Amino acid sequence: MHRIAYFFTLLFLMLSCDTDKKEVKIEEAPIMYEASEMTLLMRGMYEFNKAARLQIINKDSLLPFPEEFLLIHKAVLTDPSERDKEFDTIAEQFIKAQKATFSAKSDSRSYHFNKTVNLCISCHETRCTGPIPKIRKLLIH
Ligand code: HEC
Repeated sequence: MHRIAYFFTLLFLMLSCDTDKKEVKIEEAPIMYEASEMTLLMRGMYEFNKAARLQIINKDSLLPFPEEFLLIHKAVLTDPSERDKEFDTIAEQFIKAQKATFSAKSDSRSYHFNKTVNLCISCHETRCTGPIPKIRKLLIH
């Protein structure tokens, strides 16, 4: 039983923001974790952009900008203190770049797309570093 909890804890730490947490409490590790609104939104943004990346590379038409992304301005965070001035500024720039990606002509889409991904990374550099390698793979070279 403890082994299972330990495995899930490790898996969770690998996939989520908390990769820098050294302490793994095997005894108390809950098997199910409740994801915050922001976590759920972020997972959706990741999947959507992963699909958009291929559409851009293949020169397919893109879906419209998903209005739910605007929830970045108010979704509840696991640690609400992470929503500071810098967060709001980057979130603002991120939404602008993301919108530009979906309205751009096909030859400038990858430019706006990469700008968007770099803004994902800028925000993550200071508050949720775990997913950075995965986000970086979205960049179109
Ligand atoms: C303005 C800051 C900001 C921007 C922009 C941002 N993120 Fe995040 N992201 C966060 C924060 C903060 C969390 C942690 C949320 C929480 O724990 O409540 C997070 C969490 C995540 C997670 C982890 C979810 C999990 O399962 O634990 C992924 C993946 C992610 N973001 C991907 C992205 C991608 C892809 C983009 C761009 C398309 C992006 N983020 C843009 C701040 C940001």
